[in-house]
Amino acid sequence: MSGNVRRRLDRAATRQASRRGWDAYAAQYQADHGAFLGDAGFVWCPEGLDEADARLLGPVAGRRVLEVGCGAAQCSRWLAAQAATVVGVDLSAAQLRHSRLLDERTGITVPLVQADAEELPFAARSFDLAFSAFGAVPFVADAPRLMREVARVLRPSGLWVFSQTHPVRWCFPDDPGEDGLVATLPYWDRRAYVETEDSGEPVYVEHHRTLGDLVRALRGAGFVLDDLLEPEWPEGFERTWGGWSPQRGAVLPGTAIVRCRRTPG
Ligand SMILES: C[S@@+](CC[C@H](N)C(=O)[O-])C[C@H]1O[C@@H](n2cnc3c(N)ncnc32)[C@H](O)[C@@H]1O
Repeated sequence: MSGNVRRRLDRAATRQASRRGWDAYAAQYQADHGAFLGDAGFVWCPEGLDEADARLLGPVAGRRVLEVGCGAAQCSRWLAAQAATVVGVDLSAAQLRHSRLLDERTGITVPLVQADAEELPFAARSFDLAFSAFGAVPFVADAPRLMREVARVLRPSGLWVFSQTHPVRWCFPDDPGEDGLVATLPYWDRRAYVETEDSGEPVYVEHHRTLGDLVRALRGAGFVLDDLLEPEWPEGFERTWGGWSPQRGAVLPGTAIVRCRRTPG
């Protein structure tokens, strides 16, 4: 029977589950969220924080930018329209096929590579900026390894900005209503959230790490933390996305956005 459990899952099993799961889920994901994301829009999180307003990446024109876990690469398409030189990486062929459809629809083509974020197929110091909007970070088993890979492909002092589910959310059931407001799980439980299909095969995996785990992974890879943003739920914003809702957004952070720099030299 299909369901979800908390359990440990290694790198190989995680990668296999994510590829399979995101390939199967891609069409539904784009149907559900595509309009909110915009074909060439850059939204950081379900709270709707837009890069056009937030400017977390700073000036992008002429910069070489890597999107890690790009999905249909809506964010990269927005950056390409701002004269950045972008490349999107994603594990899922189906997600990347959706990107091709958006290329055709918008006339803005994003170069894509199908690869695992833990093994980026780029030379050292290839990019000025790297970012991920709810992309690969929570989906990989080995966050320190991912951070080291991103550091490797960034030039010295290059910027790395990523959004993900706020670690505090892991204490609560993923429910947009009342039940999602009662903490039931230990914050320090590092076991992954794993959804399985009828055969018992994992098809969706999110790895939990605490804020401290993230800071240590970044420091270990040679990053210096610049900021940790916790976007507030905008007044009058009614959109629900999974466990994100106005009711929960009023009292709990849903998203953490980390902005850091590779050390110079
Ligand atoms: C929630 S989507 C976010 C994509 C896009 N930013 C958006 O907002 O739609 C997460 C993406 O991460 C990709 N992903 C998961 N694990 C990955 C990995 N190990 N390497 C590269 N991409 C990965 C998935 O295939 C999926 O397209």
